[in-house]
Amino acid sequence: MMRSPGSWLGALLVILFVATGAIAQMVPGERVPKLSGPPQEMGEVEAEPIPKWVVDDARKERAYPDQPPIIPHSIEGYQLSVNTNRCLSCHKRELTQESGAPMISVTHYMTREGQMLADVSPRRYFCTACHVPQADVRPLVGNTFKDMSDMGVKQAGSE
Ligand code: HEC
Ligand code: HEC
Repeated sequence: MMRSPGSWLGALLVILFVATGAIAQMVPGERVPKLSGPPQEMGEVEAEPIPKWVVDDARKERAYPDQPPIIPHSIEGYQLSVNTNRCLSCHKRELTQESGAPMISVTHYMTREGQMLADVSPRRYFCTACHVPQADVRPLVGNTFKDMSDMGVKQAGSE
């Protein structure tokens, strides 16, 4: 069977791509959190220490404007299911005056097409898909993130 040079080149590129991926996985690099469980699934495994959650109620600075703000309070035992959303019992617009909680963002009322709804959009219902509490633990991987305002951006109104 004859093959065009193009298809040979394509096949070569695929092999190269797969091989580099496989090698990258074999080289012991930075300690990355394991996704699989313990090697002896049925054996007795020492429990990891329970982290100390940050629950100081101080709203944290966002690392960039679009960042889902982190949760600065305890969410221990807050039910979040199809029928019950404990988060909304403080954070929905109608209840923020009593609770003192910040209202869910205006974007949380929008559909994917930007249409405003009267209630939280289904795609913003499961809060903890985006908002997470913080624990006082050693970071699992290194982080070289730089705030964009530390990169020479002149801030509006700074003169
Ligand atoms: C009992 C009321 C109450 C409940 C329930 C509650 N919150 Fe809050 N939340 C607050 C208050 C009040 C604040 C303001 C900071 C503080 O006092 O902790 C806050 C702050 C936050 C913030 C930080 C907002 C910012 O701009 O920094 C996030 C995110 C948040 N809550 C998410 C959640 C999620 C997700 C849940 C459900 C798992 C939840 N909250 C349940 C009262 C509540
Ligand atoms: C798909 C991701 C996502 C989900 C789900 C989500 N949020 Fe957010 N949230 C964000 C992002 C991103 C921001 C910041 C940008 C913005 O305003 O949209 C934000 C902002 C907020 C703020 C700050 C509002 C302000 O004006 O300071 C609160 C409070 C909040 N969310 C609460 C909630 C609660 C409660 C739920 C569940 C009912 C929820 N969010 C679900 C992504 C999400």
